[in-house]
Amino acid sequence: MEATIEVQSVSMPRIGDKAPAFKAVTTQGEINFPDQFAGGWVILFSHPADFTPVCTSEFMTFASREAEFAKLNCKLVGLSVDGLYSHIAWLRTIKDKIEFKGMKNVEVKFPLIEDITMEVARKYGMIQPGESSTKAVRAVFFIDPKGTIRAIIYYPLSLGRNFDELLRVLAALQTADNFSVATPADWHPGDDVIVPPAGSCGAAKDRMEGKDQVNCGDWFFCTKKIEKEKVLAAIHKKK
Ligand code: BEZ
Repeated sequence: MEATIEVQSVSMPRIGDKAPAFKAVTTQGEINFPDQFAGGWVILFSHPADFTPVCTSEFMTFASREAEFAKLNCKLVGLSVDGLYSHIAWLRTIKDKIEFKGMKNVEVKFPLIEDITMEVARKYGMIQPGESSTKAVRAVFFIDPKGTIRAIIYYPLSLGRNFDELLRVLAALQTADNFSVATPADWHPGDDVIVPPAGSCGAAKDRMEGKDQVNCGDWFFCTKKIEKEKVLAAIHKKK
């Protein structure tokens, strides 16, 4: 007898794609994604399950650092394949009982999507059967003010995210947009940036406006300094 192989198609949005649209119920009411976030940045992230320890540590950190994301004009939206009442009970338990790295009484104020049908998780490639077919992996989608996916990071179930890195990615993407530059390895605001396009150092030098010092190690590697204050003034949300 021939075995029937069921091939499940998995859609994986890619960098440069428009963020797939959906409407969903969340702990903060219904959302219309990504339209309702147009004009600002939004991070859509998934976690495997409510009432699990790594996810708890991550939610406490997201909530405690929400103001740092907001300063970069970025809102947060979480998702797991749990239901709304589970989300509500878990977030209440976190607030009432859990302490982690000096954080306590942490209230999660950003929306957490219920996705018991896995419709959204599947749309965003968050269900990765090699890791788990019943839980979402830890995905992070960075979506810009025009609704375009600009960066994606996936982590396995066992690995909690690095929040300094999430903020660094956001700052680097915004700096690339604001100054038409690229950002090198381990870049942080204030470090030298790459003057693009790589391979046209002459073009890079042509763009010098007197005070900008472009240094070219060779034709493919030109950098320049942008003062930290200038970078931060451009990316920090004006009050
Ligand atoms: C956690 O968040 O601790 C976790 C969730 C799912 C699988 C493994 C760990």
